[in-house]
Amino acid sequence: MTLTLLPWFLAYAIALSVALALAGHRSRPAPAAGEPRPDPRRILIVGATGGTGRRLVAQALERGYEVTALARDPSKLQLEDPRLTVVRGDVLDPASLEPAVRGQDAVLCALGHKRFFQPTRILSQGTANLLRAMDAHAVPRLVCETALGIGDAAGRMGLYYTFFVIPVILPFYFWDKTRQERAIAESGVDWTIVRPAVLTNGEKRGTIRHGQVGSFLLTLRVSRADVAAFMLDQLRSNEHLRTAVGVCG
Ligand SMILES: NC(=O)c1ccc[n+]([C@@H]2O[C@H](COP(=O)([O-])OP(=O)(O)OC[C@H]3O[C@@H](n4cnc5c(N)ncnc54)[C@H](OP(=O)(O)O)[C@@H]3O)[C@@H](O)[C@H]2O)c1
Repeated sequence: MTLTLLPWFLAYAIALSVALALAGHRSRPAPAAGEPRPDPRRILIVGATGGTGRRLVAQALERGYEVTALARDPSKLQLEDPRLTVVRGDVLDPASLEPAVRGQDAVLCALGHKRFFQPTRILSQGTANLLRAMDAHAVPRLVCETALGIGDAAGRMGLYYTFFVIPVILPFYFWDKTRQERAIAESGVDWTIVRPAVLTNGEKRGTIRHGQVGSFLLTLRVSRADVAAFMLDQLRSNEHLRTAVGVCG
């Protein structure tokens, strides 16, 4: 990039950050004390073949839940367990969600994709379809993974993400995440949005910082395994009910 273009690029990156801040969900302060909630028995995992989703499935089975995994290609999961049901489905095909959502007590969503360089509504449209199915089948609880960098967590992925990765590689993707968060926040379900820092495939450490986390300067990380554990913990907690909570290692 020539030096003459640099001020324009910086202005674009800052404007995008402000737009992501305004468009994403901004949480009210969390309630003073979270009441525990009854542990669900049957849970649906969306994005089950992905990085976080696989860990959600494995850890949910370890915790004794009856797990339904939604997968576009069930053969990708390569996991068998008497308490695991795999349902073929696509979040962009509302009819395929019906058999997966019916009868569940809660949904965990770790939806993602790699179509970075074109306008997309996969996350927002897919989540809106999921919310409609949850409403139709009276499924009360949703825990959904988005990302730091939007709403009241704008800028919190550090300078490298704020001034390079998000404006150059992920503007469409992050814009769709703001729509996804708004669809969730406007829904009638008991929702929690979990916004991780940059994800790694590291081991579960069992410790995670949460709340208004992240750094405006540095890029912080967190393992998918720890994010999955934190998402599962939310099923039994009202601490972050109807809020978006940042998480990092
Ligand atoms: N990478 C990071 O550093 C980072 C940081 C913060 C937040 N996040 C966010 O965290 C979330 C999870 O990321 P990840 O890397 O763990 O997941 P991932 O490996 O990208 O997996 C995404 C999952 O979504 C599924 N999916 C995509 N389109 C679908 C559709 N139309 N219907 C049903 N399922 C569909 C994929 O299924 P297939 O296997 O069929 O494709 C896959 O199971 C993403 O939203 C990501 O943006 C990522």
